[in-house]
This record gives sequence, structure tokens and C-alpha cells, in this order.
Amino acid sequence: MPDRIYMDNSATSFPKPPAVTEAMVRFAEDCGASAGRGAYAEAKACERLLADARVAVATLINAESPDRIVFTLNASDGLNIAIRGVLNTAPAGSHAIATALEHNSVLRPCNALAGQTGLEPEFIACDGRTGLVAPDDIRAAIRPETRMIVCVHVSNVTGTMQPIDAVAEIAREHDIPCLIDAAQSAGHAPIDVQALGADFVAFPGHKGCLGPLGTGVLYIRPGAEDRCKTMREGGTGTISEVATHPITMPDKYEIGSHNAIGIAGLLEGVRWLLDRDVAAIRTHDEQRCEQFLTDTDGVAGLSVYGPRTIADRSGVFSVNVDGLAPGELAARLEAGWGICTRPGMHCAPLAHKTIGTHPTGTCRLSFGPYTTAEQVATATTALAEVAAGARAVAESA
Ligand SMILES: Cc1ncc(COP(=O)(O)O)c(C=O)c1O
Repeated sequence: MPDRIYMDNSATSFPKPPAVTEAMVRFAEDCGASAGRGAYAEAKACERLLADARVAVATLINAESPDRIVFTLNASDGLNIAIRGVLNTAPAGSHAIATALEHNSVLRPCNALAGQTGLEPEFIACDGRTGLVAPDDIRAAIRPETRMIVCVHVSNVTGTMQPIDAVAEIAREHDIPCLIDAAQSAGHAPIDVQALGADFVAFPGHKGCLGPLGTGVLYIRPGAEDRCKTMREGGTGTISEVATHPITMPDKYEIGSHNAIGIAGLLEGVRWLLDRDVAAIRTHDEQRCEQFLTDTDGVAGLSVYGPRTIADRSGVFSVNVDGLAPGELAARLEAGWGICTRPGMHCAPLAHKTIGTHPTGTCRLSFGPYTTAEQVATATTALAEVAAGARAVAESA
């Protein structure tokens, strides 16, 4: 079996910087306490750890202050907190706008609310080749009943980088809460939440931020918490004399004991990003995208989906080989070259309808900061060889 070439960073990043694992081991061996739940040194150390992690994440996305950072379980958790917090109590007939490139962690809560509260979600069509949404189409869809606009920053199917600045501006012009799903962009490309001006930005800690599974972040713009109810209550380790849930940030949305060991790892992942500078990581990603697009260009029998303009995309590539199911392609890439990919629908059915690959899907290769030019070269050579093999079989049949 060849050495593993990890190209599934869209699912979760691997490898993590060594400091991430070291911090988690250190936490488990030396600290092991819960923040806000004790007066002894280790409990205080855990509180400091959480505070440091909030500062680091706030710095990463240029948040107004660390208390704007809510720790969540993953991106889906943050998206649910915002979508349900804003829309759960909206009257029947309320309208929400999202795009056809959204992940199921946006599609499903919106569709669930359609059944539960009479919400009318509308998923705006995106370009069938690039996946790009036209901001004017979002503007045109706004009605007096529109209560939320949701937009994915980078598609986990096509790598399309949506014009979120324009989308957030439209939402602001109409005073409609705006949620950005930054699951595939945080840590991969610079995000400045103050310049963006969206009310909510949700992202995982375990993908581009290089933390462990079980970590995530929801950024909430100052004041936006007033429009987002909390759907869960519980212990916060603060104002324990009061039997109602605090409305202060970030306690309003953080219930129960934290995933402190995960946040210890996340802190080191974010520090790694800050040391290297996310703009430099984006440049590295752009170079890999350019290489992949150039080296796969014109390969007979190989389809590469999504934008061909680097500024409009990230290193998430959906491909198909004529005559092979995505699962068969993934199996050949792993067996022959050790390349780890993800075949199928990638939890984004409307994205596949958009690019014409529903319901069979695609095979996805997704890059991270540790993806080397040599690994991309191996992947493009492998794809060309598999496509040539499939062609030869088809011709001889
Ligand atoms: C665009 C997008 N949104 C949301 C999610 C959900 O992320 P998580 O698995 O951290 O909940 C993903 C996961 O792949 C994603 O790609």
C-alpha cells in the first residue's frame, strides 16, 4: 500500500500541527479541570485557556472583542444556533433566503422549520458551471417577510468562493440578519468580520482552523444577539445564584461544561495560523489550485467542476471520470496512490443538482496547508491514469 496522501481536508484537516496534539495531552495530564467550576489552580488555568482561545479566534477573524466568540461543537451546531435562534419564533409565512450551494447543515434546519413553523425557505439558483450566486438574485428575492439571509462562503462541493461581502451588504441595507457559513473558508482564506458586517459567521474548529474534531465557533456581531434567542439553557459557571439563563455574551449560547481539551488544541491550531498568516496560507492554496487546474486541463474523460478562476475558488475539487462511479474512482485513487478522497454527495444535494451530478455525486479532493505541490502532482497524474484506463476499457468493449 502506498503512503497515505490526505486529500480530505474539507471533511476535517489532517495532519494537525504537532502543538495541537501536545496541548491536548498537556491538558489531559496536567490540568483536567473544567472552567468556571472550581477555585483551585487548575480550574483557573482552564478559565485562562478559554480566554486565550477566545482572544486568538477573535484575532484570526478580527472580531470586535473576544466575547463575540461562542464555542460550539462544530460548524453545524453554530449554524443551528443562529438559524433556529433567529427563525424558531418567526411567524408562519416568514421567508428565509439561502443559496443552492448550501450544505445540509443549512438546508435541513431551514426545511425542518418549514414543517415546524411554516417558514418559507428559498434557495437561490447558482451558476451551473461556476456555482457562483448573483447578489442581484438575492436582492430580488427579498420580501417584506424575509427574516434571514444565509450564504455559504466556500462550497464544499465545487470550491466556489461566493461574493459574501455583497450578500452581507444587501442584508444590511434591508436590516435582515445575515449568517455566513464559513465552514470551508475559516483558516484557508482571510476573514475580517468587521469589514464583512455579517451578523453571524459559523465555522468549525476542526477543518481550516486545525483544531480537533468536536470544536467549532459562532461569531456574533455586537447587538445581533438581541435578534437570536437561545434554544438551550443550562449551567454556565457564572451568576449561579440566578435560575434563569444569562443573556450576556458568550454565556447566552454556551451551555454546560466546555470541550476544554478540544479548545486547548484549537488554540494551538489558531496560533499556528496566526504565526504563518492566513493570507500566506491562501496564497499557498491558490498555487495548488492553479497547479491542479493546469495539470488536469484537457485530460480526456475527466470532468473537473467549479470555477476556473482562482479568485473565485478554493482548493476543494469535485471530479468525475467517465464510466466510473465516484466510489470506484475514490477506491482506485486510494489503492493505487494512497490518495484519500471523499466520493458521493458531500451533504449538499442542491449543489449537485446545480452542477448536474445529482444523485451520483462526485469524487472530492480537498487541500489544506500541508498539501504539497508533489502531492498535487501525484493526484493529477493518478487522475489522468485512471481516466486513460477507463477510456481503454470503454473502447475495447
Ligand atoms: C459548507 C459546509 N457547511 C457546514 C459543514 C458542517 O461542518 P461540521 O461537520 O463541522 O458540522 C460542512 C462540513 O463539511 C461544510 O462543508
